[in-house]
Amino acid sequence: MKRLQDKVAVITGGSGGIGKKVAERFLEEGASVLLVDIDQQGLDATRDALGGGGRIAVARADVSKEEDVAAYVKSAIDAFGRIDVFFNNAGIEGKVAPLEQQDTAMFDKVIAINVRGAFLGMKHVLPHMYKAGAGSVINTSSVAGLDGSPDVLPYITSKHAVTGMTKAAAIEAARHGVRVNSVHPSPVNTRMMRSLEAGFAPGHAEQAKAQMEKAIPLGRYGESADIANLVLFLASDESSFITGAQYRIDGGMGAM
Ligand SMILES: NC(=O)c1ccc[n+]([C@@H]2O[C@H](COP(=O)([O-])OP(=O)(O)OC[C@H]3O[C@@H](n4cnc5c(N)ncnc54)[C@H](O)[C@@H]3O)[C@@H](O)[C@H]2O)c1
Repeated sequence: MKRLQDKVAVITGGSGGIGKKVAERFLEEGASVLLVDIDQQGLDATRDALGGGGRIAVARADVSKEEDVAAYVKSAIDAFGRIDVFFNNAGIEGKVAPLEQQDTAMFDKVIAINVRGAFLGMKHVLPHMYKAGAGSVINTSSVAGLDGSPDVLPYITSKHAVTGMTKAAAIEAARHGVRVNSVHPSPVNTRMMRSLEAGFAPGHAEQAKAQMEKAIPLGRYGESADIANLVLFLASDESSFITGAQYRIDGGMGAM
């Protein structure tokens, strides 16, 4: 028996580095998957790359807009009839700068996508899970949702909010048999880290990467596959007694 046999999953940020890998693992384990992203070209390319036949669908949406969120949830129900797993994962990094130089419009954008987007996703998905009396939500926070670090205050703020909303939602959802957990990766090898490395050390991104890797006891960034394996566990019934939890996946950073 596959670990997500006949389950239906919705993945936001579905054409990004982590979202795509999670989709691939979910498909391998028997799920049907709706990929949601703001990037239509990325969605089309991801769908083509993953195959999956009738078990994969895509929906373009800006997760910060409530009408878009309502529409992607409807797409999932129309395509597959229900939602068992929600990987609430779309996010942006904002700009690297000390707080007094942070652009206020960018602060608002980071909060709109990372916080409002995650909230709206749960607001529209959870009622379907409540009706079924089961479901698993996995919110993508970050080590930045548990610890501070310099020059990315909007991102840190947004990911701490995701940690808090996970706990609050988990307590409410437990009454309906639904689980809500968060994952907290340290740097993962995706577009997002390339952008942050360039922001931390303009013109010397490779050095910034090497320095960050030195701060990780296992000596490397995470790969999207590492995150996908954790998300798969939290999505599956193997984690049926786990809710409201924060899962660090950080190569040992949190132990320092
Ligand atoms: N890469 C890392 O080091 C790292 C570490 C910890 C947490 N995270 C978190 O993991 C998640 C996925 O990041 P990733 O590393 O795959 O980066 P990524 O940039 O490859 O993927 C993010 C995806 O979100 C999509 N997106 C952005 N704004 C959107 C919007 N308004 N509506 C819908 N989709 C939107 C993008 O188009 C992109 O496909 C993010 O929440 C990120 O904050 C990443």
